[in-house]
Amino acid sequence: MKILVTGGAGFIGSCFVRLAIQNPAHEIVNVDALTYAGNLENLTAVADHPKYRFVKADLCDLAGLRRIFDEARPEAVVHFAAESHVDRSIFAPQPVFETNLRGSFNLLESMRAQRVRRFVHVSTDEVYGSLEPPLEADEDFPLRPSSPYSAAKAGSDLLALGYFTTYKLPVIVTRASNNYGPYQFPEKLIPLMISNALEDKPLPVYGDGLQVRDWLYVEDHCRALLAILDKGRDGQIYNIGGGRSLPNKTVVDRILAITGKPSSLIEHVTDRPGHDRRYALSSAKLSKETGWTPQMDFERGLAATVEWYRANQKWVRRVKSGEYQSYYARNYDHRARVG
Ligand code: NAD
Ligand code: DAU
Repeated sequence: MKILVTGGAGFIGSCFVRLAIQNPAHEIVNVDALTYAGNLENLTAVADHPKYRFVKADLCDLAGLRRIFDEARPEAVVHFAAESHVDRSIFAPQPVFETNLRGSFNLLESMRAQRVRRFVHVSTDEVYGSLEPPLEADEDFPLRPSSPYSAAKAGSDLLALGYFTTYKLPVIVTRASNNYGPYQFPEKLIPLMISNALEDKPLPVYGDGLQVRDWLYVEDHCRALLAILDKGRDGQIYNIGGGRSLPNKTVVDRILAITGKPSSLIEHVTDRPGHDRRYALSSAKLSKETGWTPQMDFERGLAATVEWYRANQKWVRRVKSGEYQSYYARNYDHRARVG
């Protein structure tokens, strides 16, 4: 199957490309604008594969996107490209609107004229908002997004489902929980804490650190997406959860234990505005329909992730240089130390 992937140079997209290309029946066209989060180094393993091709393009350019579709004629599309960081979406919402909404709209428009057999819109559990325990969101749970990021993702989910109902575009929406693993940009909790710990820098915990996230190993997420490409039903939504809910503070303590660093590195900083307290979701529908279950146990996955960051400190330094550094210097005022 010829699969056009958007955002394949990012964290999850590059994992998907590395995994999907192992199937000799697949051919991949990777469309990515290479923003601060996109990095072709993540794809060194597949760069020379005869069935892999990279196209640098911005989803906000509709005419360019149409040309790519006319030429590539993909059978399936898996849409990862997004501004994916909640903090950035709070301090700079414009690019989130442009890529997550306009970019998704352009993609849907580009596919409308084509006979794509499957479109997987990769979305997030954040669209359900914060849930009181013991609630768990299934796919019919109301949408209550809190941040510009999650509101834009909820908007593009609904737009994609609207294209299914109106134009019979074969749309599937997936909603995954917090991913972790190699190649994640060190702005998200786990890679930031690992890279700071390895450099003996402070670990900035927002608020009381008792916010709960459900952790999903990135390869488990990508295996779920492959199963959905194969067995998912058009017009459906599938949740993809790791089944391992933990407070942030516990995750940070484990990283300190694995890296052998002292808890004095923890620095409580002021909270993220509108911070969702707890995400929780059920993946029962996905497991029932495809047989998928997460394979990676959190302790083993976290240890493997720490080892990857330890062995790839040059990658961390390179992606953190330049634009990233200046962005943080300008915008991260809520990281003021508390007390
Ligand atoms: P990421 O930030 O690592 O990568 C995003 C990729 O999209 C980058 O390669 C970037 O260059 C590309 N991109 C951004 N804007 C673009 C544009 N206008 N045109 C073309 N390419 C563009 O993101 P990620 O963490 O890999 O997330 C991938 C997808 O999965 C996102 O849609 C995100 O909402 C969703 N998701 C992420 C998580 C998570 O925990 N990271 C969980 C659930 C869902
Ligand atoms: O739930 C899925 C979502 O997970 C994805 O849709 C997003 O793309 C992805 O970025 C992630 O969003 P979160 O906001 O949950 O992830 P982040 O790693 O930014 O934060 C995880 C938790 O850790 C959250 O409660 C905020 C907290 N945190 C984060 C950072 C970066 C800190 O306490 N300190 C930090 O420095």
